[in-house]
Amino acid sequence: MAALIEVEDLSVNYGVIKAVRGISFKVEKGELVTLIGANGAGKSTTMRTIAGLIKPRSGKIFFDGRNITGVPSHAIVRLGISLSPEGRQVFPRMSVEANLEMGAFCANRRILRRGLDQAYGLFPVLAERRRQIAGTLSGGEQQMLTVARALMSEPKLLMLDEPSLGLSPILVREIFELLKRIRSMGTTILLVEQNARMALKISNRGYGLETGEIVFSDTGEKLLASPQVIEAYLAASGSVRKSIFSSGSVPA
Ligand SMILES: Nc1ncnc2c1ncn2[C@@H]1O[C@H](COP(=O)(O)OP(=O)(O)OP(=O)(O)O)[C@@H](O)[C@H]1O
Ligand SMILES: [Mg+2]
Repeated sequence: MAALIEVEDLSVNYGVIKAVRGISFKVEKGELVTLIGANGAGKSTTMRTIAGLIKPRSGKIFFDGRNITGVPSHAIVRLGISLSPEGRQVFPRMSVEANLEMGAFCANRRILRRGLDQAYGLFPVLAERRRQIAGTLSGGEQQMLTVARALMSEPKLLMLDEPSLGLSPILVREIFELLKRIRSMGTTILLVEQNARMALKISNRGYGLETGEIVFSDTGEKLLASPQVIEAYLAASGSVRKSIFSSGSVPA
């Protein structure tokens, strides 16, 4: 299989903060790959860097064999990479439909229509509310809009940063079903999820990030059975429990 996205020795800093420290990983065409890790591990930074929103300090990013390191975000979308960002980032004063249209970027009318039909098919509640101002949607509806908007550009690589955050258990299950469907339609997915157990269950492979470094990687199935992963990320409620407390940096 060929890698759709390949990250090579990538480092990203915010001023003096080293958020990502020399990570390498890849996502093959058609795969769903999950990044798991505690708060502050560098998951969002990694995705934002691939999306061209942050410039890396060093390292390379290849998309479909082409070096895209440092390519600006608008050009990244055109190449076929789309990010559903963390935390319901809708355009609050615009309607639901206008938000979706923003996701299509500069697509022609035919692609736009196809995208809207798909979004409304996947999320019927958005169809009912197409004229509603996005800022007045419920939190869960805004989350759905964020995911639906990322799909509008018909990406080859869809990156989702915590798509199920704040959704009710029923909607969380629906989101995971949806991700399986999107993958079966041929879209490659890079996922970040607090709900590590559900994410790994549907993942081909996963990588563990700790303080900006990749500390393990394996198939989703093997990670689900790994004592290290169970202890750190899957115990109790099934969500990510590992925190700064485990690093010994916090006094007892
Ligand atoms: N704009 C910024 N300026 C300075 N530091 C930042 C900035 N954004 C993130 N960081 C820092 O970079 C590190 C990685 O942050 P990042 O958002 O990538 O983590 P994350 O793994 O997505 O965490 P979470 O699970 O909480 O979303 C953290 O230490 C964070 O404080
Ligand atoms: Mg994050």
